[in-house]
Amino acid sequence: MRECTLSIVKPDGVANNLIGEVIRRVEAKNIKVIAAKMILMTKEQAKGFYAVHEGKPFFESVTDFMSSGPCMVMVLEGEDAISIYRELMGATNKDNAKEGTIRRDFATDIEKNVVHGSDSTETAEFEIRYFFNSLEIQKR
Ligand code: CMP
Repeated sequence: MRECTLSIVKPDGVANNLIGEVIRRVEAKNIKVIAAKMILMTKEQAKGFYAVHEGKPFFESVTDFMSSGPCMVMVLEGEDAISIYRELMGATNKDNAKEGTIRRDFATDIEKNVVHGSDSTETAEFEIRYFFNSLEIQKR
């Protein structure tokens, strides 16, 4: 199915010059970047984005981290884009991520794990709308 997903290159990925590497891997799978921008989230904006994780032990820490520096947010589109991008990222914890995945290759730890990707069509819709309005998404 042709679908869209939200990708974030997190503050560690931006600081470590991995924006190009992430896009290269995405495009190599024939997934298109149809919208992209650099953002710097406030703590409150990070909390809104990760609202599903409110109450979890890592919530304060991950929202501090995500508001600690610039992120690159992108809308990706392609056949099975959600699952293909999740395969490219690898498991949340780099120790469980397969070889050749972005997180296995570049993550620091379970929090500083370079990238985020939507996990379903429902979360993709919420996450894309959280950062982009319809004028920013080039769709035909
Ligand atoms: P992400 O896929 O963006 O979703 C939630 C983020 O919280 C996750 O990646 C990690 O960066 C961070 N995180 C930190 N600790 C954990 C944990 N124990 N389980 C899941 N996510 C965690």
